[in-house]
Amino acid sequence: MSQLSVPHLLGIKDLTVEDIQLVFETADQFKEVLNRPIKKVPSLRDITIANIFFENSTRTKLSFEIAEKRLSADVVNFSASQSSVKKGETLVDTVNNILAMKVDMVVMRHSQAGACVFLAKHVDARIVNAGDGAHEHPTQALLDAYSMRQRLGDLTGKRVVIVGDILHSRVALSNIFALNKLGAKVVVCGPKSLIPRYIESLGVEVELNLDQALRKADVVNMLRVQNERMDYSYFPSTREYVMQYGLTMERLNRLDHTPLIMHPGPINRGVELSSELADSKHAIILDQVENGVAIRMAVLYLLAASLKS
Ligand code: CP
Repeated sequence: MSQLSVPHLLGIKDLTVEDIQLVFETADQFKEVLNRPIKKVPSLRDITIANIFFENSTRTKLSFEIAEKRLSADVVNFSASQSSVKKGETLVDTVNNILAMKVDMVVMRHSQAGACVFLAKHVDARIVNAGDGAHEHPTQALLDAYSMRQRLGDLTGKRVVIVGDILHSRVALSNIFALNKLGAKVVVCGPKSLIPRYIESLGVEVELNLDQALRKADVVNMLRVQNERMDYSYFPSTREYVMQYGLTMERLNRLDHTPLIMHPGPINRGVELSSELADSKHAIILDQVENGVAIRMAVLYLLAASLKS
């Protein structure tokens, strides 16, 4: 089997189109494994992986852990809130102590953009970025694009609208890089205060009016307003945000077509997405979560292959 062009998964920006296609083809094979009565393969039997999470997570943490266990890796979990980080230990010291216990790969989530790039330069292990600040969340973008491709086929020319808090979103940035590489047309939509000034330089279109943005959309990816990353208010009120940027069945029914509805989670029900729509047949939110396991198995498998070569 071919190999990735990179030793670590730090961001989608570093990947080639061939890398992305290789992850998708490998994930197709692991999806087949996940549908068997015995959902486990011995591929990473001699590999030890540490999941180190300095920020909260439900989906990504569980998904990586399940992926690692399905591949028969030995898995250790590290939560910063219960560790000696609280006593002032540095990131490099923390990770080097973990590596001294013969760990091969580190999956890390961190609140600081660039933390995984820093780690990859300073420690001798394969690093997988599970989300670093407002920078990148590469496995989320891979599973999002994979889920779109599963429903729509080739993404070339498909119009994907990303709605909400683009400014603080690592999901938006990684999705933009992935979708551009796969030939899709990306539109970002949200309050002007939550659209970064540089965004058009990434080759995306900006549309501040949601109804306009939805008119020709094949896919709508709704993002959460990340209140935890905001030090002041970026819009007048939640009620006003919902009126302008909340996606509801009523809004969708005004269109002459029905785009695919996506959300990386966690959802603020009734804010960016109505409960009725989140639970409807138009939303593929749980397909995204299901595909996340196969995508993460593929990423870990491909990176581990380069450890052995
Ligand atoms: N989509 C995502 O990253 O969710 P978690 O924060 O729960 O991992």
